[in-house]
Amino acid sequence: MSDGQRSGAGTQIWLQLTILCLWHDGSQETRLRDDSILPFSAFLTDNFGRRHNYLRISLTEKCNFRCQYCMPEEGVKLTPRGQLLSTSEVLTLARLFVQEGVDKIRLTGGEPLIRPDVLHIITQLRKLEGLKTIAVTTNGMNLARLLPNLKEAGLDLINISLDSLVPAKFEFIVRRKGFHKVMEGIEKAIELGYSPVKINCVVMRGLNEDELLDFAALTEKKPLEVRFIEYMPFDGNKWNFKKMVSYQEMLDRIRQKWPDLEMLQAGQTDTAKTFKVPGFKGQLGFITSMSDHFCGSCNRLRITADGNLKVCLFGNSEVSLRDVLRSGASDEELLQIIGAAVGRKKKQHAGMFSISQMKNRPMILIGG
Ligand code: 5AD
Ligand code: SF4
Repeated sequence: MSDGQRSGAGTQIWLQLTILCLWHDGSQETRLRDDSILPFSAFLTDNFGRRHNYLRISLTEKCNFRCQYCMPEEGVKLTPRGQLLSTSEVLTLARLFVQEGVDKIRLTGGEPLIRPDVLHIITQLRKLEGLKTIAVTTNGMNLARLLPNLKEAGLDLINISLDSLVPAKFEFIVRRKGFHKVMEGIEKAIELGYSPVKINCVVMRGLNEDELLDFAALTEKKPLEVRFIEYMPFDGNKWNFKKMVSYQEMLDRIRQKWPDLEMLQAGQTDTAKTFKVPGFKGQLGFITSMSDHFCGSCNRLRITADGNLKVCLFGNSEVSLRDVLRSGASDEELLQIIGAAVGRKKKQHAGMFSISQMKNRPMILIGG
């Protein structure tokens, strides 16, 4: 489909289906209302039929931690403030994507909770009709203090990074102090009823892979989903194959201790493979981006803090929505550009070795 043809296609299909609904029998009507066959914006559908209904917006490039796997040791050159998306630009883009069918937005960073307008952004996002889920990925440092207000504003889901349960090791990995504050943030999230509270743990050989069982044991009494993430290569993070612990290896180790670990049913676009030790309150997840990618069911788009649309985490092609917005473009013109970028999305990423050789942004400048 050419970009021109994308224009208005969603509306046309929708009209046709509505008309069909009017004169078909009851069972047909039910089928047409089924989410899986409802029309979806042509702009957000790629050439492989993937519908992108999940948008991740990075609110800042800054962070109060310096995680070894995310932030290069020497730091990164920050984009001047005026070139970052303003509050109203973030909200304009969010509105546009939600109008086209995005029903989940995750705020990322950097550390999204250090952006002073985060509360306002969530409050405004909550008003968007059609947006079902607002999520945040945070390092947890300011969470205990901010969470009551964030919840009040409408935050639905939280993922908190935690890479070690040993305070000194945690602080070595994140190159900052703060272990106890993060643990407080996790407790606060549980106390306020988030369930499950998702814990992101990037597993790195020689650093924290000896803590797999301790992390898994946390799920016995707490409503947590501990998500073990395969270590991924980004610019400046000194990734190498030997430091990566694969899903299979992690699973084998956990199964040695809990042989009756059960795999749970996954939703169509879930990136985590989830498991539960019978009788435990929480569950485990594995994000297998390296050993078993999930490109086939990818439904995500990303906007970086400087306003670039990134259709694939591991792809270096980007288009500046900020520049288009600032040129005074109409919604229709923006959608043409978004649609063209989505149309260029590749079937899958290049594979684990090519990714490690490829030029990309450091993770801190992409948004986790
Ligand atoms: N590999 C895997 N996950 C990463 N994250 C950041 N850098 C990496 C990496 N190199 C994820 C972490 C963190 C989130 C912000 O991004 O899970 O919680
Ligand atoms: Fe900051 Fe999160 Fe990156 Fe760590 S992983 S440096 S907490 S943005």
